[in-house]
Amino acid sequence: MGVEIKVEHLTKSFGKQLIWGDVTLTIPAGEICVMLGPSGTGKSVFLKTLIGLLKPDRGSVIIEGTDIATCPERELYEIRKLFGVLFQDGAMFGSMNLYDNIAFPLREHTKKSESEVRDVVMEKLDLVGLLGTEDKLPGEISGGMRKRAGLARALVLDPEIVLFDEPDSGLDPVRTSFLNQLIVDLNAQIDATFLIVTHDINTARTVPDNIGLLYHKHLAMFGPREMLLSSEEPVVRQFLNAQKVGPIGMSEEKDADELAAESDQDLPALPPIPMQLEPSNGIPRRSQREPGAWCEENGITPPPGSFDQNMSMTTGA
Ligand SMILES: Nc1ncnc2c1ncn2[C@@H]1O[C@H](COP(=O)(O)OP(=O)(O)OP(=O)(O)O)[C@@H](O)[C@H]1O
Ligand SMILES: [Mg+2]
Repeated sequence: MGVEIKVEHLTKSFGKQLIWGDVTLTIPAGEICVMLGPSGTGKSVFLKTLIGLLKPDRGSVIIEGTDIATCPERELYEIRKLFGVLFQDGAMFGSMNLYDNIAFPLREHTKKSESEVRDVVMEKLDLVGLLGTEDKLPGEISGGMRKRAGLARALVLDPEIVLFDEPDSGLDPVRTSFLNQLIVDLNAQIDATFLIVTHDINTARTVPDNIGLLYHKHLAMFGPREMLLSSEEPVVRQFLNAQKVGPIGMSEEKDADELAAESDQDLPALPPIPMQLEPSNGIPRRSQREPGAWCEENGITPPPGSFDQNMSMTTGA
């Protein structure tokens, strides 16, 4: 289960404004990827291009042998059924209770009877820990619950690929930890391919198998979590460690004077690489590997203190 997404030389602009160019990456089947990037670098545009809601200027998005950038509308409609999408605000209908919100895709896209719909809705509500709230309106529950309800709705059609656009925005750190655990547990359980756009560095450091960084109209880096967390590449290093020193400034890029004012001595040491968040339901991750395996295979010495159980507990993992 889970489907690979192969993105090749993808370029997207609106009018004369290039958003990103020549993006090439493969999102492996069944794994969790996180996409990072400063605000406005086109992360949401990237997600929309992957589901064919936006057409790229050039390049391809290959899913199960079909290039969704160029395929006919009818094929696109079929491919879209593989996707579940968690929109940033949950995108619930405000006047419908949670039950009807979550049942909506089933009633729209399947011929299931109401009793079959009920079984699926209850199963997904249970999966995200919301049993008993089905009669509530979206406005009557907390932001964290709305995210989970959005997730339940994204899962009703048993997607092979789930896209999350900032699932943790607006959540407090404790709720973010619970949601991250839920995401990791779900990934192990339903074995679908997950792509998460987030601004939360702790999420990016602990949840995914692979990390990508969009910066300055291109994909700065994409690869295994340990590769990016041990990278000395200035943009990657600055972004993944939330540092002020580096090429990224308040309005995207620092100018030459600003950069010159920083010396290498200002550069803080790379923090330890935390343990990857493990599923709590006892099911292994599809791509579970020994902590430090990537570093070892590639002859990289991880920062001191990396993969220390106690350390990752204090950072919320
Ligand atoms: N339909 C559209 N038409 C024209 N321009 C668009 C459209 N959608 C997005 N853009 C532009 O594309 C750029 C990238 O937008 P996008 O929403 O993908 O950024 P983002 O990386 O998701 O930012 P954030 O982190 O703030 O959510 C922005 O400059 C935005 O104005
Ligand atoms: Mg966005």
